[in-house]
Amino acid sequence: MSKVTVVGAGNVGATAANVLAVKNIASEVVLIDIKEGVAEGKAMDIMQTAQLLGFNTVVKGVTNDYTQTANSDVCVITSGIPRKPGMTREELIGVNAGIVKSVAEQLLKYSPNAIIIVVSNPMDTMAYLTLKATGLPKNRVIGMGGQLDSSRFKYFLSQKLKCNANEVDGFVIGGHGDTTMIPMARFASYKGIPVNTLLEEGEMDEIVHNTMVGGATLTGLLGTSAWMAPGASVATLVDSIINNQMRMIPCSAYLEGEYGCNDIFIGVPCLIGKNGIEGILELELNDKEKELFAASYAAVAKTTSILKEINAI
Ligand code: NAI
Ligand code: 2OP
Repeated sequence: MSKVTVVGAGNVGATAANVLAVKNIASEVVLIDIKEGVAEGKAMDIMQTAQLLGFNTVVKGVTNDYTQTANSDVCVITSGIPRKPGMTREELIGVNAGIVKSVAEQLLKYSPNAIIIVVSNPMDTMAYLTLKATGLPKNRVIGMGGQLDSSRFKYFLSQKLKCNANEVDGFVIGGHGDTTMIPMARFASYKGIPVNTLLEEGEMDEIVHNTMVGGATLTGLLGTSAWMAPGASVATLVDSIINNQMRMIPCSAYLEGEYGCNDIFIGVPCLIGKNGIEGILELELNDKEKELFAASYAAVAKTTSILKEINAI
């Protein structure tokens, strides 16, 4: 038996709940939103696909009633406003900080042992806020961004290689931002073959660029931020926790010395299991990667420092 609460029944939250159900990842999913009726409606819509798709997960929608979320194993925070075309993730900080903080407090009141996944943007900063506002141990607060950025990286690699994306491996570390993420080109592979040996000159730079602006490209096309891959990325992360899969998933984690960083949430390769972040993989970065990581760290730290300026922590 596993129970997952998803806060925010908007695009990302409802998609995450849908994937959690369709793939039978959790036995119960509670979708909760502040807008009257929205979570109930989305949950009912998902449940009406159960016999079509053959899943047993029970998805329930509620408006603002946190008693219904009690004893969740994992809680996912997607509540907040998304990007509009031309907006950066950082511009969402003021509004989303208030929402994320109050939601995290209410969740823990009814699920004191839950692992919290933070999705709301700017995600690295919102994860930091969640840890500081709740006082939870660092393994129980996870920022979701690297999984999504990595899936975009693998998509662009597979497009260029004209191959199945499932046969490509690669990951992205650093901040979850257009200029802060670091697609790890050196480690990307196709069936174990280093991708760099298969691409023409300049092609990897193009893939890296497309990955970094992947979210902005979709926001431009859709008029709001993307939700399919974000929702599926959340569900994959939840699966690794609930089923103790110990998968290596790039997540935003609280660093205390790893990668030479302190007191920050930033994307690094994490081992994800039943206790949340079970370990952080410390890669030996080369000089260029170290330079990129230091710049990413500085930018994420700057955004995170805004929390103090606006008295959010
Ligand atoms: P959306 O606008 O479709 O959904 C947000 C939902 O949150 C709305 O239904 C709204 O009513 C609800 N909400 C607002 N305040 C609330 C509160 N106090 N309690 C409960 N529910 C509340 O937005 P979307 O597209 O689902 O995005 C959600 C957030 O996730 C945004 O901040 C977006 O930037 C972020 N995002 C992060 C990604 C990542 O990889 N970390 C990827 C995609 C989106
Ligand atoms: C995305 O990467 C905006 O974080 C959101 O699609």
